[in-house]
Amino acid sequence: MNSVSTILTGDRPTGPLHLGHYVGSLARRVKLQHDYSQTILVADLQGLTDNGHRPEKVASNILQVMADYLAVGIDPLKTTICLQSGLPALAELTMLYMNIVTVARLERNPTVKNEIEQKGFTRSLPVGFMVYPVSQAADITAFQADLVPVGDDQLPMIEQTNEIVHKLNALTGTPVLRPCRAILSDTGRLPGVDGNAKMSKSLGNALPLSASEAEIHRAVHAMYTDPAHLKITDPGKIEGNVVFTYLDAFHPDKAKVAEMKAHYRRGGLGDRSCKNTLEECLQMLLAPIRRRRAELIRDPEMLLAILKTGTQKAHAVTQQTLYEVKKGLGLPVMF
Ligand code: TRP
Repeated sequence: MNSVSTILTGDRPTGPLHLGHYVGSLARRVKLQHDYSQTILVADLQGLTDNGHRPEKVASNILQVMADYLAVGIDPLKTTICLQSGLPALAELTMLYMNIVTVARLERNPTVKNEIEQKGFTRSLPVGFMVYPVSQAADITAFQADLVPVGDDQLPMIEQTNEIVHKLNALTGTPVLRPCRAILSDTGRLPGVDGNAKMSKSLGNALPLSASEAEIHRAVHAMYTDPAHLKITDPGKIEGNVVFTYLDAFHPDKAKVAEMKAHYRRGGLGDRSCKNTLEECLQMLLAPIRRRRAELIRDPEMLLAILKTGTQKAHAVTQQTLYEVKKGLGLPVMF
């Protein structure tokens, strides 16, 4: 087992990525790729667990997500980008791990429980969806990842992964699998442009990385501020004011934001002016990303070639783990 820290992250390709992804994870991945061995998994199989009836929704977004990665600065020479369905070891490990996880344990997973409720699954719950935490454990362990940068909603997955690691290692009597820990983002979750706690395409409150100049303008100027701040001279509230949440997340000059907040609280700083400042930041951030993305998406063969190269590299790593797990369990290895 190697001792170098290995990072695995993943995204379900169910839509193009948005500003929430940028703040929560993409920007950090761009930084981490310089200091760690990092792999990003395009989790199409996981995307299918609640889209089994519309596979095109997943299939058509694989290259969209690839374009998002490269446009924000993920460098395929530094980060391995690979496709979950192209890695048979992940499916095989899932199959092996399913036997050491109980249905009761899966039912207790709070993230899965929430999702089941939100999606209104009752008897219609797909088996694949129920077991996706096991598949995620296969993803993480197959790469022998010890660091998993995720949002706090993914903590139950990490906990469940480590349970599987310990059970399997106890069964094999040797430390075949490596335990992992989550790295939580220091910036909180970015609210939607409407102020809803979560930015999500399905809630219609997301700004995609490909947003046009006009879309950015419209979204910023429709943002929720302080409804009691009627006149410019009125003192305003920062708490719950989406414009300031976004300024905190995107304005490069923290001192300037602090000064704006003080001015807004005192009175005398208008919403329009704050929104103009925010719009300027977002236009500056997104213009080069939009330009690169548009170029990338024009060359799907190139995107696919990058994904294939990464998947081939990942294939070797994940097959090795599968081999060690099978050997540890005493199963004869056929080839
Ligand atoms: N569950 C993650 C999400 O919905 C995606 C994912 C799949 C993942 N496999 C992973 C994340 C492995 C980290 C590690 O965003």
